[in-house]
This record gives sequence, structure tokens and C-alpha cells, in this order.
Amino acid sequence: MSAKRDLISIEDFSNEEIEEIFSIADEMDEIIKNKGRSDLCYGKIMATLFFEPSTRTRFSFETAIQRLGGGLISAPDMSVTSTKKGETLSDTIRTVSQYADIIVMRHPHDGAAKVASKSASVPVINAGDGKHEHPTQTLLDLYTLKKEKGRIKDLTVALCGDLEYGRTIHSLAYGLARFGANIIFIPAKGHQIPFYVSNRLANVYQMKLRRNVLPPDLKLIRDKIDVIYMTPSRGQQDFGFVVKEFNIYVKELFLKDNLKKWNQYDSVYITRIQKERFAQSEESDETVTPRENYPVISGKLLKYKKYRDTTIMHPFPRVDELSREVDGDKRAIYFKQAAYGVPVRMALIAYLLGLKKTGLKSRKLDREEVPSDKEIAYISCENENCISYLEREILPREFRYPKREKITGFHALIYTCAYCDIEVLATYAGSSKSKKYVKVHPALDDKIKEWRDNRYLVVFKSEKAAGEKGFEPYKPEVGKPVLDQEKIRAGLLNVVDQIEKAEDLDDLVLIGIEQEGKVIAERLAVLIRKRNGVKIPVAGIDTNPYRDDRSIVNDENSQARIPFSIDKKTIILVDDVISTGRTARAALDVIFDSKAGRPKGVKLAVIINVANFRELPLNPDMFIEKVDLRGGRIIKVRLKEIEGVDEAIEYSAARALV
Ligand code: NCD
Repeated sequence: MSAKRDLISIEDFSNEEIEEIFSIADEMDEIIKNKGRSDLCYGKIMATLFFEPSTRTRFSFETAIQRLGGGLISAPDMSVTSTKKGETLSDTIRTVSQYADIIVMRHPHDGAAKVASKSASVPVINAGDGKHEHPTQTLLDLYTLKKEKGRIKDLTVALCGDLEYGRTIHSLAYGLARFGANIIFIPAKGHQIPFYVSNRLANVYQMKLRRNVLPPDLKLIRDKIDVIYMTPSRGQQDFGFVVKEFNIYVKELFLKDNLKKWNQYDSVYITRIQKERFAQSEESDETVTPRENYPVISGKLLKYKKYRDTTIMHPFPRVDELSREVDGDKRAIYFKQAAYGVPVRMALIAYLLGLKKTGLKSRKLDREEVPSDKEIAYISCENENCISYLEREILPREFRYPKREKITGFHALIYTCAYCDIEVLATYAGSSKSKKYVKVHPALDDKIKEWRDNRYLVVFKSEKAAGEKGFEPYKPEVGKPVLDQEKIRAGLLNVVDQIEKAEDLDDLVLIGIEQEGKVIAERLAVLIRKRNGVKIPVAGIDTNPYRDDRSIVNDENSQARIPFSIDKKTIILVDDVISTGRTARAALDVIFDSKAGRPKGVKLAVIINVANFRELPLNPDMFIEKVDLRGGRIIKVRLKEIEGVDEAIEYSAARALV
């Protein structure tokens, strides 16, 4: 017998398996229409355990097993079971799996379905776990799209409403991405798609956040299209567009290189506000009122041309985000969608019970690797609705490595909770052998890998946590300065000499990479002004959103911006250190994405040129000192304006750590 299969996340099934379930669903549809019943599940019993209210999911599952000729055990409400007496989920499931051949469970806590799948000896189907996932809804949603639109690939689907707590949205977004659809997120105010979901879409499915596609000139586009470009202000506002008819920000994720169809929606999938899932603190100040801050599907909206061929979908129940006047419209397919729940769930039950021989190798999607128990012994999931948080005394900690390791702004090792998928960031790494810890830094990548390979690695969220476990900070051995204050001063003067000699000062601009590069650029501008009386414009740029080795996660607020024209100018790009060259590459992207003009040329000036670490064909035109660094060493330029002293020092970051 092969291992039992569960459906906990939509990611548990391969695309081929999903297609297979669709074709079984077609057969089931025939059975429903013709005989109304088959004997496929004769002698099989399904248990439905619903710890949360349900109409469609539960009744369609219960209809499905009966149409398959199977039996059903259930409770009208789980509060009449031993759960009420304090029985753990695990004990309940273990018991029920002695009676039933397959279990369908809905639960208010994220990750509860995973606990059930581990406790049960029979297949478990997740009928919704907290705000996490609702994979069977996704199966029927995708089936509906396929039936109504003939395909899923290349469709443009708008997912609207409470994208934060809507579990149907999370599973559907993965499903759409996997089948090659474009997704437009239209969130209710304050209820964006969570980072861990958009991260997964970007990193695993190479979906790309559109940025800066339209010119920031409202006049140019206002008459042509009904999407308005918003100028984002860093860190405050959501980057995106305002869809006029919804009056709501839109964040768009598109499959790489597939930007054609953004102005026409094949389907709009609207969901209700998930009030019961709001964190307690949110409840009081939450004022999401439909029609103001919530996207609403109304008859008026559907008059817009771009909705001409749009199917309107809703997982239901609806509150007031979907007007009843739409019910009679032929584009409204939500009752049909609910009806498809039966054949799809019949197909799923038959598939998981192994009653439909498909010849498909049952294969889970290639999920991420698993860290050792020791490595994650001191971190835990912080999602208060996660079952592993609520039952941390009895449940083992489980994490995976996600498919990326770096995030914007600071360095950390990232772990995904295997129950709820939410990420934990560990900013400190230690060796269980030496009982020392360090702050995570790319220069230590090799060291951390070595510890991991040797099974010494332990990670921490904070220094305090490391200290509490008896770990001591590793004090890097500080080398002697590479450059002192005097050498930096003389070096900068020399750079100014070179600039004066080679450039026309009237056509010059200085662009510094935040934060050190900007300070150095400002110093150069002061020196040039003192010597020549010419005021050179200076701008600072943030390259983080444009780095090739970091995720887009925190970047949607960032938009390349240079506050003056660079058209036909010579740009001196300034940074403290060039090492791999990736920051300089990203800076070029920022410059050309800023729409501030086409520069005549770009030159690069730095203080330290780390020559032996270069990964790209980019070399500085001007530098003060060239160094070759050994592995595990870091060079840091400290500046008066930021750290009170001018110097460049080399650190031995990790020597003698283990
Ligand atoms: C959804 C659910 O329970 O997640 N309903 C459903 O299963 N069709 C959506 C909701 O409750 O809003």
C-alpha cells in the first residue's frame, strides 16, 4: 500500500493531479445528471468534523459521499463532542480515524489541518483552517474557471476583498499562479495579501510585481484608461494603482513577462470581510465599511467595458460586497460555482481513497527543505492563531527553509512555519559547539553553511534569546584601519581632482547610494562648490528594491525616484564600497527606471574597491583604496556624519568562532 494522501494545502497536489481530479469530476457530473448515484464508495465512511460554521463546503461534501454510495458520520456542531471536555484535536482525530475511511475537517486555527493529517491513519481533507488555506474551494474555483473560460492559463483574475484573512484567496492565488494566470489583488483597505503569500508567488512561481509601468503623468493616461497611477511615498502608502470604479488600491502580481492583459479582467473573485478572524486588537479600531473602503461588485461596476466578459465569482457567504442586483446577470456564476462543489468533491474523495486508478505517480510539489531540530530549537511561530503557537506545549516545532534567504533592509535567516506557512526571521546565528553567536551577515554565509552542515547551527530571533540560552556574543577581531581620517580626506580630494579634469561641471550630477554613498556624494559636492563655485545636484537612492538577490517583499512601497532631471547629464554614482558589484548594478536599474531622463554617461566612485569579490563586469572609475579580502572578512567604511569617525576597517568576522 502506498502512503495515505491528504489535501491540506493546494500545494500538496501537482498540476497533473489537479487536472486528473477535474476529469474525474466531469465523470461525476455525468453520474449526478444521469443516475444520481454510484457505488464507487460502497462500504466507505466519511467523517465531517466542522469546528466552524459551514453551508456549502459541508453540504457539498456530505452530498458527495452519499452520491458515491458511501456512509457519513458527523456531528451537527463540534461543541457537542468531547472537544467540549477538553480533548485535544489530535486525540479526536486519532479516534475518528478508527471509524471513518476519510476525514473532512474545518477548524478555526491555522495549521490545524496539518495536525489532523499527522494524527489520522486515513486521508484528511482540509475544509478550511483558520486564515491559512481552503484547498477544496480552490479545486472547485479552478474547475469553475476552466468550465466557464475554457482554460486557466493566461486568464487575468482579480481577487478582491479581505485578502489578508481570506483563506480561499490564499489557496486560489497559488493555484492560479501554478496554472499560469495573471492575478490582480484588489484588497479592502488594510487587508492586503499577506507577505508570506506574495513572497511565495514571487519566489516560487516567479510572479512579478509590476512597478512603474505607466508614466506618472495623470493627464497622459486619464482619458485613455480607467487605472490611475499613484506616486508612492516610501513606507507609507501602498504602491500600486487606483482602480477608479472600486476607488481602491490595486497591487498587481503578474507572471513574468506576461503584462499584456492587465486592463481586462476574465474573472473577478470577490470575498466577504472575515471579521471573526480579526486579531483582538484590531476589532475596536477596525472601520472597514463596504462601499467606502471595501471593493463592491454592483450592477454599475459591471457596465464598465472591461467587465464585458468577466465572470463574477464568490466563495460565499456574501455580506454586502456583492449586490443582489447582479444575481440575474449572466456573468454572475457564483451559484453554479457552488454547484460544482459536489462533482469536484466526489472526484477528490474517490481520488484520495484510491478508488480511481489514474496511473499518475502521486507526487507532492517540491516543497522546501527541512532544518534540523537543533537549528530551530530556540525559535517558534509567532502567529497567535497558529495551532503550533496555541498548542506549543504538545506540538513539535516544525519549519522549512523557504526558497530565498535574504530580505530587504536587513539580514536574517528565514524559516517558514510548517503549520501555518508564516515566516520567522532569525537575525542571530550561533554554534552549539562554541556557544557563541553572531549577527547574520552575508560575509558569514559560508560559516553559517559550515555550521549547518556540521549540525552545530542554532538560530535566534534576538540577542536576548541567545543570552538566555547561555550563548555569548562573538566579538569580531578588529583589524587595523585600512584608511584613517587623513587618508579618506586626501582620497576624496583626489577624486574631486579627477572629476574636475574629466567632466563638464555644468552637466554633472551626483547620485549616492543610501546611506553612506549619499553622505560621500554630499561631501564631494561641497568640495566642488568650494573649489569651483558650482553647485552640483545630489540625490540619494535606495537600491534594495532592485537587488537581484532579494525578494520584492518589502519593496512595493519603493519607487525609483530622482528629484531632478538627469537627461544628458553625466552621473557620478557614489558608494562607500564596491564588492560583488550587485549594488552598483541595482543602482543602474534605479537610475534608468526613475524616468528622470537619459543620462549621457554614468561613472562610479567609491572609497574602497574590494577587487577579488567581484561577480559582475563593473569596475569603479575612481576609488581611494583597492583591497583583496579573504573569506569571512568584512570591510566597513565609517563616516563622521553617521558614526562620528572617518575610517575604513577590516574585520575578521568569524575566525575562531567554532
Ligand atoms: C469560505 C470559507 O469558509 O472560507 N466559504 C466557503 O467555504 N465557501 C468563505 C467565507 O467564509 O467567507
